[in-house]
Amino acid sequence: MPPRTTILLTAMEEELQAFLDHSTRLGSESWAGWTIHHLECAGMPCVAVRSGVGKVLASMVTQHLIDRFQPSRLILSGVAGALNPDYEPGDIVLARDLIQHDLDVRALGFPRGQVPWSNDRIFTSCPDLLRIAQKLQTPHRLFTGRILTGDQFFTHSELLSHSYVRDELAGDAIEMEGAAVAQVCSRHQLPFLVVRTISDKADGSAHLDFSRLLPEVARNSWSVVEGILAALPKPV
Ligand code: ADE
Repeated sequence: MPPRTTILLTAMEEELQAFLDHSTRLGSESWAGWTIHHLECAGMPCVAVRSGVGKVLASMVTQHLIDRFQPSRLILSGVAGALNPDYEPGDIVLARDLIQHDLDVRALGFPRGQVPWSNDRIFTSCPDLLRIAQKLQTPHRLFTGRILTGDQFFTHSELLSHSYVRDELAGDAIEMEGAAVAQVCSRHQLPFLVVRTISDKADGSAHLDFSRLLPEVARNSWSVVEGILAALPKPV
């Protein structure tokens, strides 16, 4: 039986490129417009995919990859905006847990982020993967925090009108795929970890910082993913 693979998911091309540049490419396949790269990274069999931005694309491709590969684990890496005032661009955030900030059925009595008529609200990263990542030696500042996900890019005006992301949901960083991928993985009891590098402070200059810093900070997330893969027991 071939060893089961690790899924490496990213949203943007720059983030995927960091994976491809540091791996042995073994081939690729296509599905519904996605290119699925077969790789070996740090001695581990992996498949890497750029999902595209947002919860729908990320969920859709995650479900397909689980069906197709029956993976051992999934690592989602990429960039995020900072909500925690201590975070600076270039810092790395390991998700302790994730919530969909834009899922709001409070009108029917459910707390913000709760999938109605279910227990799904806070999705928790795999403790073993988190522990491995927390122990890595990296030149970047490494935090563990709560990541919020929604189909919105946050700048100063969203922060003003959506103050609940800090006050109510206690988010440390914000992005557009993590909690959706976490929800799909949780349904399948698939261990997952979300690793994000801060690209902007979700403020007035977020759009400029995001574009300027994306290629560089995408490499920071990759270095953590590579470190995790190198620390995992090798398949025999
Ligand atoms: N990803 C990176 N920066 C972000 C922001 N400010 N809002 C949402 N997603 C992001």
